[in-house]
Amino acid sequence: MKVLLIYFSGTGNTERITELYKNEFAKLGYQTDEVKLPADNRAVNCINPDEYDFIGFGYPIHAFNAPKTVLNACKALQNRRKALGRETPRKKVFVYKTSGEPVRMSDVSSLKMRGILKRRGYALTNEYQYVMPYNIIFRHTDAQVDKMWQTAQALTPVHVNEIANGTPSLPKKMFMGGFLAWILRAEHWGAHIVGKTYKANKTCVHCGKCVKLCPVNNIRVNKHGKIKFGGKCIMCMRCAMFCPKNSIELGILKSWKVNGEYSFAPPTDAPQASKHDKYCLKAYNRYYARAEKTITEFYGETPPPQDPAE
Ligand SMILES: Cc1cc2nc3c(=O)[nH]c(=O)nc-3n(C[C@H](O)[C@H](O)[C@H](O)COP(=O)(O)O)c2cc1C
Repeated sequence: MKVLLIYFSGTGNTERITELYKNEFAKLGYQTDEVKLPADNRAVNCINPDEYDFIGFGYPIHAFNAPKTVLNACKALQNRRKALGRETPRKKVFVYKTSGEPVRMSDVSSLKMRGILKRRGYALTNEYQYVMPYNIIFRHTDAQVDKMWQTAQALTPVHVNEIANGTPSLPKKMFMGGFLAWILRAEHWGAHIVGKTYKANKTCVHCGKCVKLCPVNNIRVNKHGKIKFGGKCIMCMRCAMFCPKNSIELGILKSWKVNGEYSFAPPTDAPQASKHDKYCLKAYNRYYARAEKTITEFYGETPPPQDPAE
């Protein structure tokens, strides 16, 4: 039994969830192959979809949409099936997405993918959203991150079991959702423009970390030794988050920068104050209440086992 996970992760959140999926599928006896975008873009062109029982797409929500690299992989997979001339029954596809906030609008992020996949023999049957710390806009506190991570760890076994058992789970359709998602997909080309305005300021020590980390090779060192940003940025925020000197300036997005890796460990210090305590509070409360209900229904009254390594 085999599963294919095709995913993009800018700053590691979606990668963490991918690991959880891999572990849960392994517990059910599935072997997992991974395609990490955009590095393994070409690998998609060699995939035989019929080798897999399930195909999963993982992505961070960007402006209420899936990042372009993920849509491109969907198209490549569609072409792959066409090239192989498959007329076999619809292949089941699932989506796992991460986002900084749990608002209902996020449900439109997969609409474009659904259209692409449906055209050639795939059917999106399950879609799950995990709230993970923001890599843009503002920094979540350690306590908030811990709660998000504990929740995601408890939810993934439930979701993987649903997928494996063939129990469909899709978000409800939203009025004008497709139209809203279409407008917000302007972010795909807007990122190229905004990304060109990024700069490394005087605190930069030229360690080259941003150059190495950029998933689209958009950052280079010019002949004067200065860091330069090209026009291919996909706004994943990896450079800004992992810069050890917090030197990257994000042009018009400067007040939205989040610098410094999240630890995901249970907080040991005194609770951190946050100016954003009330931000989307109702939506977060709704997300946690729903998650708790799902978890209790699945595990009964016994709390979910925690991975001692986490
Ligand atoms: C350009 C950009 C746009 C984003 N848009 C949204 C959004 O519309 N809704 C949301 O909840 N989170 C949004 N986020 C936050 C990310 O989805 C979230 O932090 C995600 O977990 C990051 O995952 P990653 O570490 O795998 O890249 C956005 C992040 C970026 C960089």
